[in-house]
Amino acid sequence: MSWRIERLTTDGPLFEGAIDVYSRAFAEPPYSDPGRGDEIRSRMVEVHCLRQGYRAFCAVEREGRVVGMIYGYHGLPGQWWHDTVGAALSEEAAGRWLSDSYEVVEVAVAPESQGQGIGAALVRDLLDGLPEATAVLSTRTDSRAHVLYGRLGFEVVTTMRFAPRGAPFYVMGLDLRPGKSGR
Ligand SMILES: CC(C)(COP(=O)(O)OP(=O)(O)OC[C@H]1O[C@@H](n2cnc3c(N)ncnc32)[C@H](O)[C@@H]1OP(=O)(O)O)[C@@H](O)C(=O)NCCC(=O)NCCS
Repeated sequence: MSWRIERLTTDGPLFEGAIDVYSRAFAEPPYSDPGRGDEIRSRMVEVHCLRQGYRAFCAVEREGRVVGMIYGYHGLPGQWWHDTVGAALSEEAAGRWLSDSYEVVEVAVAPESQGQGIGAALVRDLLDGLPEATAVLSTRTDSRAHVLYGRLGFEVVTTMRFAPRGAPFYVMGLDLRPGKSGR
């Protein structure tokens, strides 16, 4: 393994590297959205890093080159994703998956470094030791990312669109306290 995982702050060379990785990963199909890096930069710095439970990591090669990034935070009512997904679920499912949940917000690995286990390691480190009952995320059904999440134990909670003519997404959830929930 020629890379290590480090905490990611919202400035400095690692942050710039993480934004570059994110931009390049989402410039590829099925997203084909090269401008998304600029959007995520301002969302991370201005909004997301202030949220409860925010934490971010990057994967760094020996020479200091960033090859992957991930971040998340505690989901709460009043947040767009939390409320939109909650409205699409039954009351029971919303209670189960969203009442004490950690949201995996973004994860990206540089296109030339994908398929080497970096994404799995980033998800595992982000979730390690979390106090929440569940981890939740959404991922496009036409991306292969859901296969990775499934392998890490996530299950499909529902399939939904976030915009009327937008792409369909899987909402996926992972029980972080298996055996302790009494369910
Ligand atoms: C999804 C992503 C983070 C996975 O990171 P990774 O380092 O390639 O993942 P790993 O090496 O740990 O695991 C590989 C598995 O991830 C999945 N995967 C998803 N996209 C992949 C890709 N482009 N290349 C290789 N594997 C990919 C596959 O299930 C693969 O396993 P398989 O080859 O046996 O099917 C990365 O591919 C990526 O950045 N994709 C573009 C952005 C994206 O989709 N982000 C997630 C949005 S929810």
